[in-house]
Amino acid sequence: MSDTLLTQLDAGVFSVTFNRPEKKNAFTHAMYEAATAALQEAERRDDVRVVLLSGAGGAFTAGNDIGDFLEHPPTGEDSAVFQYLRALAGLSKPVLAAVEGAAVGIGTTMLLHCDYVVAGEKARFSMPFVNLGLCAEGASSLLLPRAAGFALASELLLFGDPFDAATALRAGIINKAVPEAQLKEVATERARALAQRPAQALKVTKALIRGPLREQVDAALKREGAEFVQRLASDEAKEAFMSFMSRGRK
Ligand code: COA
Repeated sequence: MSDTLLTQLDAGVFSVTFNRPEKKNAFTHAMYEAATAALQEAERRDDVRVVLLSGAGGAFTAGNDIGDFLEHPPTGEDSAVFQYLRALAGLSKPVLAAVEGAAVGIGTTMLLHCDYVVAGEKARFSMPFVNLGLCAEGASSLLLPRAAGFALASELLLFGDPFDAATALRAGIINKAVPEAQLKEVATERARALAQRPAQALKVTKALIRGPLREQVDAALKREGAEFVQRLASDEAKEAFMSFMSRGRK
């Protein structure tokens, strides 16, 4: 655990909180490492029945920290971001997420690996990869068309525009949207309810739901990862990142 990633176990619910609110919980490579370690701990511990992901300070996460990405670009499969995605995709226990505010990039794509997602009605999702000169990641090129159909998946991934909770619901990215004031309560109640179900039956059922796609998910992560690493070094990406970094200095 680190300051930027908090974990807590309560009634079988292992809460993992992205905690960098001053940067909208944008992920540095150190946060990915801490998050991977937290998921591995959740997998190992018998007293952990379910995992609940959330962000501190009114945002889920603004995705990859762009400055950190420039300083420590992922170079291959062992990079921190890809290890995190594999750990999340491979978790045998149910994962829930409570999404408030911004869920950008991997903040949206990681939800495709969650088993139950509740969002605040004002949450804003986006996968702005193309606009950043990048490409789909997090196995979204495989999982989003399955969840949303090709038309909506292509719209969301190609244009990269922000979308609201109603669209996320329609796209099959979230299960439920609730007023922000109820988000924590609803997410905690759902997590506790799942934590009380028979643990082995939960695991087997999750494996039955996700298992047939496991190899395809791993292959998609590899395929996207290889393209993503190349895209990061492209002039298109460098230009987009520099433009974000120099915001506010203009
Ligand atoms: N990487 C690095 N810093 C980020 C960041 C990111 N992905 N997202 C937000 N921040 C920083 C901002 O630079 C700002 O820092 P500052 O206060 O030192 O200037 C701080 O977090 C607050 O962000 P701000 O943009 O002022 O908040 P907002 O509520 O107006 O907008 C977002 C929130 C998430 C919509 C907006 O910050 C954004 O679009 N971020 C970039 C998201 C992105 O492209 N992610 C990469 C996907 S691969």
